[in-house]
Amino acid sequence: MKFAVSIMFILAVAVAGFTLQQSGAKSKMPKMALTATQAAEKTKSSDKNDSGEATISFSKNVFPIIKRRCLPCHASDSDNRSELVLESYNDIIAGGKHGTPIIPGKGSESLIVQKVSPNPPFGRQMPVMTRIKLTDGQIDTLRMWIDQGAKKN
Ligand code: HEC
Repeated sequence: MKFAVSIMFILAVAVAGFTLQQSGAKSKMPKMALTATQAAEKTKSSDKNDSGEATISFSKNVFPIIKRRCLPCHASDSDNRSELVLESYNDIIAGGKHGTPIIPGKGSESLIVQKVSPNPPFGRQMPVMTRIKLTDGQIDTLRMWIDQGAKKN
C-alpha cells in the first residue's frame, strides 16, 4: 500500500511539472524581454535625430493632422479654387495655384505653415470655415517636419 502511494505521488509531481512547462511559463518570458529591448532600440534610432530633437514622421505625425483638418476641402474631388490637393505626400509637394507649399529645410517660409498661422500672405488662415484653428503644437509639427527636410518618412 505504501508503495502505491509513493508511485502516485511521483506521478502527480511529474504531471504538475509537465503542465507548468506546457503552459509556457518558461518559454514566454525571454520572448517578451526581447520585444521590449527591440522596442527600446527602435525608439532610440528612429525618434531622435543627431541634435537630439524628436524626428517628425510624415505618416505618423503630419498626415493625421492633414487628413482630419484639411482633406474635407483639399481632396482631389473637392472643388477648391486653390487647386491644392493634400491627399498624399506627392500631391502636397506638387502644390496648387501658388506652387509647392513646402520648402524643405525652411518650415517658417513654407506656404503650408504660413497658411495655418495667423495673417497668411494671401487669403484666409487655414482651415477656413471653422473657429478651431490648428493648435500651436500642430503648427510646430508641420514646421519641424519641413525644417527636418520634409521627408516621406
Ligand atoms: C473649409 C475648407 C478648407 C479647409 C478645411 C482647409 N482649406 Fe486650405 N484652402 C481652402 C480654400 C477655399 C483656399 C483658397 C483661398 C485661400 O487661399 O484662402 C485654400 C487655400 C489653401 C492654401 C493655398 C494654396 C495655393 O497654392 O493657393 C494652402 C497652402 C492651404 N489652403 C492649406 C490648408 C491646410 C494645411 C489645411 C488644413 C490645416 C487647409 N488648407 C484646410 C479651403 C480649405
